[in-house]
Amino acid sequence: MTGLVPDPRVDALRVGTPPGWVDVALADLPATMSDHAHAEKKAALSALSLLNREPARTDLVARMAKLAREELRHLDQVLGHLRARGWPLAADRPDRYAGALLRHRRAGGSGGLVDRLLCAALIEARSWERLSLLGDALADDPLGAFYTELARSEAGHYRLFVDLAEVECPGEDVAGRLTELAVEEAGIVEALPHEPRIH
Ligand SMILES: [Fe+2]
Ligand SMILES: [Fe+2]
Repeated sequence: MTGLVPDPRVDALRVGTPPGWVDVALADLPATMSDHAHAEKKAALSALSLLNREPARTDLVARMAKLAREELRHLDQVLGHLRARGWPLAADRPDRYAGALLRHRRAGGSGGLVDRLLCAALIEARSWERLSLLGDALADDPLGAFYTELARSEAGHYRLFVDLAEVECPGEDVAGRLTELAVEEAGIVEALPHEPRIH
């Protein structure tokens, strides 16, 4: 993917974000960062929702509790940057990207859990890519270092979800399913209009 330093931990994305997105995102940075704050909030909520659905999976529960805390820290940091600039947090808007991806999940059973984990992994991977692009584009601004650091953290979250799918769902073809869902994710990214939001 052009203009982006690859992270060896993120190996699933089939396409790069189309050129032009970063310009749209930077042209309305208050809106982009407001959406980013909501994305961090939703990441925390989805970690807690997974914990709630799978209480008997001790390792998963512990990891989701840690992840929720980390995503809330990201939320707090983004809110701090918004506040420092006098930019308000806008209302959350429906996330068409995540909504379209989650429609491909299978329901129930081991396959359902694999899909839930892999969709979360792909959303983290796309966040890694987009936050990296913002980090590069804002290299002359203190926000650049902030976004680059956050991107690294999202790459780790991608890996966490893929590893969890492997460990929690033995017997499932996790790699094969990741490829299938990554193809769907690529189609969604290419079809969505460019907007001042993370996804
Ligand atoms: Fe995050
Ligand atoms: Fe994350």
